[in-house]
Amino acid sequence: MTRQKIVAGNWKMNKTLLEATQLTVELHEALGETSLPPHLQVVLCPPALYLEKIKSLLTLLHADHLAVGAQNCHQAANGAYTGEIAADMIASVGAQYVIIGHSERRAYYAETNDLLRDKTTAVLKAGLRVIFCCGENLDEREANRHTQVVAQQLRESLFDLEAAQWQHIAIAYEPVWAIGTGKTASPDQAQAMHQFIRQLIGEQYGKAVAEQTTLLYGGSCNAANADELFACPDIDGGLIGGASLKAKDFSTIIRAMK
Ligand code: 13P
Repeated sequence: MTRQKIVAGNWKMNKTLLEATQLTVELHEALGETSLPPHLQVVLCPPALYLEKIKSLLTLLHADHLAVGAQNCHQAANGAYTGEIAADMIASVGAQYVIIGHSERRAYYAETNDLLRDKTTAVLKAGLRVIFCCGENLDEREANRHTQVVAQQLRESLFDLEAAQWQHIAIAYEPVWAIGTGKTASPDQAQAMHQFIRQLIGEQYGKAVAEQTTLLYGGSCNAANADELFACPDIDGGLIGGASLKAKDFSTIIRAMK
């Protein structure tokens, strides 16, 4: 069985509408006619405000291999939550993915493992797929607590799910010390954590679920280091920040995923 591979671009809070549409067109051009492997899904995660526009643009360009995803959503189905966006709304504009639990949301918006469990449930209920982020900060890595931290994040947010729901979950391991710092985890460090995560899923849900789950690496992944990261046996793609904002770099990263 070939696991689904994913290369996702998290644009974070960048780009005006015009810039976002330009980037989408440039990426489509940079990918050209090269056919991507059938098991590879590319996902663009622009600011939520542009999801519908980018989705329609991709349809217009016949870029069927590119999906769109949101960077966050609210845990409630609807209601009086001024400024928030529900998973059903994201689904209604044609998006297929939602990033949940990014370390920036954990750090700046105090998102806890419990809250992220509720958000994950909301996303799955809306029929969308989750890219669930986990990862330790520098202190935790230096104290050799990184596996413990990641295990707790996954256990508290995801291990109440039923085995069948795991077909809709991808995990992104993003060590906080590697995000936006230019300091990438080495392929050995990344592979070791991915292997650990797969083992953890296996212990909870069995080998079949563990083997089918897509595990992404994120944190200063770029056009120069994607090849060696993606060559690791338990790394099934990437969640890319800065380098996804440049069509040339992002297309090189996409091509690195065989
Ligand atoms: P950078 O690729 O800019 O380090 O960001 C990674 C990230 O946070 C993706 O979600």
